[in-house]
Amino acid sequence: MKKIIAVDGPAGAGKSTVSKIVAKKLSYTYIDTGAMYRAVGLKVLTRGGNFDENFIVDTARDIDIKLDAAGKIFLDGANVTQKIRTPEVSKAASDVAKVGFVRKKLTELQREMAALGSVVMDGRDIGTQVLPNADLKIFLTASVDERARRRFEELKAKGHAAEFDTIREEIILRDKQDSQREIAPLKQAEDAILLDTTNLSIDEVVAKILELAGNVTC
Ligand code: DC
Repeated sequence: MKKIIAVDGPAGAGKSTVSKIVAKKLSYTYIDTGAMYRAVGLKVLTRGGNFDENFIVDTARDIDIKLDAAGKIFLDGANVTQKIRTPEVSKAASDVAKVGFVRKKLTELQREMAALGSVVMDGRDIGTQVLPNADLKIFLTASVDERARRRFEELKAKGHAAEFDTIREEIILRDKQDSQREIAPLKQAEDAILLDTTNLSIDEVVAKILELAGNVTC
């Protein structure tokens, strides 16, 4: 069965980690929509970091974003998989994600990518806007402190210098910006299943989603 699984939630809730594993276990394609917003944010930064709406629209107009099966992301032909993971790009991604033109363009691309089914797509607005007919919708969340701790460990493991308090502040700011924007804000879809991962291991979250996926009939 070619199901579509939508996973939404705030930064650091574990979306990409668990979505990747769930996709692998089901032999589905994993689509990281946050990486696409990050690519637009990176391009704006590379062009001088002007976050004026007109400049963002101009930057996004002819942008070429591709995700490959191995999870690599290409911006205008260049592999930016590592470059998009810095705190600076996180903030830039959240800034460009407020712009209607960017959302429309990426939403169309995301729908095309999901058209064949057998996908796990994660983001902020997948269950509410991009794929409202998804077979299974999960809303992953966790406490701010736990999400900050995860981001801190993740950045440290990658060798990035990071301060816990700064990361925590950035997460709070991004939560606010992502959930209060006018277009497609971060919001749990009415038919999404809420999973609080604060006290759950990755394996436990994956097992729960696989169980729910097994129960979904299309
Ligand atoms: O999931 P992430 O941290 O990589 O996402 C980066 C930013 O992109 C996030 O702060 C909000 C935005 N985003 C969005 O608005 N809609 C999505 N479907 C995915 C990400």
